[in-house]
Amino acid sequence: MLDTVHYKTRQREAFRDDVVAGLSAAGKTLPSRWLYDDRGCELFERITALEEYYPTRTETAILRQHAAEMAELCGPGASLLEYGAGAGVKTEILLGALHSPRAYLPVDIAGDFLDLTAARIRRRFPRLEVQPLVADFTTDFDLPDELPAAGRVGFFPGSTIGNLDAAETAAFLRQMRRHAGRQGAAIIGVDLRKDLSILLPAYDDLEGITAEFNLNLLHRINRELDADFAPDQFRHQARWNEAESAVEMHLVSQCAQTAAVDGQVFHFAPGETIHTESSRKYDPAGFGAAAQRAGWRVEHIWTDPARRFAVFGLKAVPNRRFE
Ligand SMILES: C[S@@+](CC[C@H](N)C(=O)[O-])C[C@H]1O[C@@H](n2cnc3c(N)ncnc32)[C@H](O)[C@@H]1O
Repeated sequence: MLDTVHYKTRQREAFRDDVVAGLSAAGKTLPSRWLYDDRGCELFERITALEEYYPTRTETAILRQHAAEMAELCGPGASLLEYGAGAGVKTEILLGALHSPRAYLPVDIAGDFLDLTAARIRRRFPRLEVQPLVADFTTDFDLPDELPAAGRVGFFPGSTIGNLDAAETAAFLRQMRRHAGRQGAAIIGVDLRKDLSILLPAYDDLEGITAEFNLNLLHRINRELDADFAPDQFRHQARWNEAESAVEMHLVSQCAQTAAVDGQVFHFAPGETIHTESSRKYDPAGFGAAAQRAGWRVEHIWTDPARRFAVFGLKAVPNRRFE
């Protein structure tokens, strides 16, 4: 495991490289993982409480209603590996239902926020071993050697999986299968396709919290990469991309302008956008097929009465091809 100072230096370099590459592309883009610095994590937590943002309350209700069945799927003595743990609010529901859970390993790219989450979970579950890992889950990383092979359960709530494109989703599901091992299980929250009158406001709320979350990325680039973006010259936009079955967030340039990042100058035409996040919406069969290709068998699909959201319960297929 890298020490914190080394990790932060590496993370700054990765951030800079992603920003320069993304702003140099023909269609400007920035990877959504960089939305989550301390301020971004705080703003995301405010988004989860908004009336328009149905995913959190819907998934929370599904977890509460089916927690006992999820505990059966996980089995006794489970080690819970949570990817993109954030504030870990939903985690408490699952941990509270599990039979004698052994360990909790929250993984997140936002290290300081992760420490706060780990401390809260330790207070709430004093007998549980809590071992946070600062890592980018779209890259290959290993779990601590001392973690027992039996009873590993991947937990990926929040429909964060929707932020990954098809290739990243396949690679992520394979990595989670490798982490969980041949007797492992997984619980994944997936947002479903639905009417745009519900989808679009969830990413463009009346209070403007999602806009602040999106624009915070430019503030973060200014703070951490010695850049000179004028965030008030960009506007938040949420739009539907049918081909990708995704709500996209963009930052729209309000005028002809330039921004310098670490000594490189980027030009923006009026109306030109920076694509900052995609949130893919699945149909249950499509997501199930992707999970199967990565070495998982679908055991349960728990959903809400309006079928807005689905929580998948998966079991590893014990085949050496997926180890
Ligand atoms: C949409 S929030 C979900 C938070 C929480 N799991 C929930 O259900 O409310 C996404 C979380 O994943 C983290 N994250 C996003 N991309 C990541 C990546 N590539 N690697 C690790 N963590 C990532 C963010 O820092 C954030 O905490």
